[in-house]
Amino acid sequence: MPADRPQAPFNRRECRVAEIHAAGGYRIFTLIDEEGPEPAPGQFYMLSTSGTSGAYAGRPFLPRAISVARTLGTKGSRRLEFLIDEVGPGTIEMAKLGGGDSCGLAGPFGSPFSMPKELNPDAVGAVLVGGGIGIAPMAALRRHLVSRGVPTRTLLGFRDQAHSGGVDELFGCEETRLAYEDGSSGHHGYVTDLLLQILTGDDTGGAVIYSCGPPAMLEAVRLMAAEHSVPVELALESPMACGYGACFGCAVPKTDGGYLRLCVEGPVVRGDEITSAMAGEAV
Ligand SMILES: Cc1cc2nc3c(=O)[nH]c(=O)nc-3n(C[C@H](O)[C@H](O)[C@H](O)COP(=O)(O)OP(=O)(O)OC[C@H]3O[C@@H](n4cnc5c(N)ncnc54)[C@H](O)[C@@H]3O)c2cc1C
Ligand code: FES
Repeated sequence: MPADRPQAPFNRRECRVAEIHAAGGYRIFTLIDEEGPEPAPGQFYMLSTSGTSGAYAGRPFLPRAISVARTLGTKGSRRLEFLIDEVGPGTIEMAKLGGGDSCGLAGPFGSPFSMPKELNPDAVGAVLVGGGIGIAPMAALRRHLVSRGVPTRTLLGFRDQAHSGGVDELFGCEETRLAYEDGSSGHHGYVTDLLLQILTGDDTGGAVIYSCGPPAMLEAVRLMAAEHSVPVELALESPMACGYGACFGCAVPKTDGGYLRLCVEGPVVRGDEITSAMAGEAV
């Protein structure tokens, strides 16, 4: 087999659930991964449960992609924290697990976020824009950048309180600006309103933007960054099937023609690499 052909996921393993608890409308799900390498911000795992939901005709049949939100500890006792939104059979089955149960895990997979100076040699700071469940990789990235002394501003947006959670635990007391579409907290409106304030009010010559969230939000961020000539990296959380490059179920069109597979060439892509952040929905 050619060396560059994707291999089956290395080291698919059963991990023990350390705990799971509610965090607003989401859940924080912690697995103990004794064997795997340390994940980088933006990478994800494929998680599988042995349970099936009777309400969904035996689904889920396939593992589900979930971004790592926080990593604690070191090899042998590493704890991986995930933020889960229960939207279908896969995530509902994960949410039913309890401490001591077992969960299938493969990964970490995918390309992580770049450091700011890799996107802009003159970069002096980063703006992080997270929406909904997409705040998970932003939490991992924020800790990574702050620990390396990168000035970081974080903007998080949610539809409403029922579709939000994890801010206090994953972002701690670090300063974040919040936007709620229903006006229940913070800015009343979209998180992109807050981004526009930064892009129009600041000297953005030394900024880079990182973002993860729903496709419509990511597309708005991509277009705003292009308009203000600010480099941007987006983590696209489009549907995936195999998670390791074999099925092309996650392909999105590239700006220069052809397709890229988000599971191996993403999920983090530069804004100018793709024609639209909505593209993953239609494939
Ligand atoms: C790289 C990556 C990282 C991710 N990180 C996270 C994370 O940290 N936390 C998290 O909770 N999720 C995350 N996701 C999303 C998660 O993998 C998906 O939502 C997954 O499909 C959930 O599985 P499910 O069985 O619970 O729901 P599914 O049944 O797969 O449904 C998921 C959503 O898609 C909709 N849907 C399903 N089928 C269709 C269809 N045919 N047409 C239109 N809409 C449809 C459903 O209504 C629902 O809202 C990530 C995805 C990727 C690719
Ligand atoms: S999910 Fe199968 S190739 Fe990406």
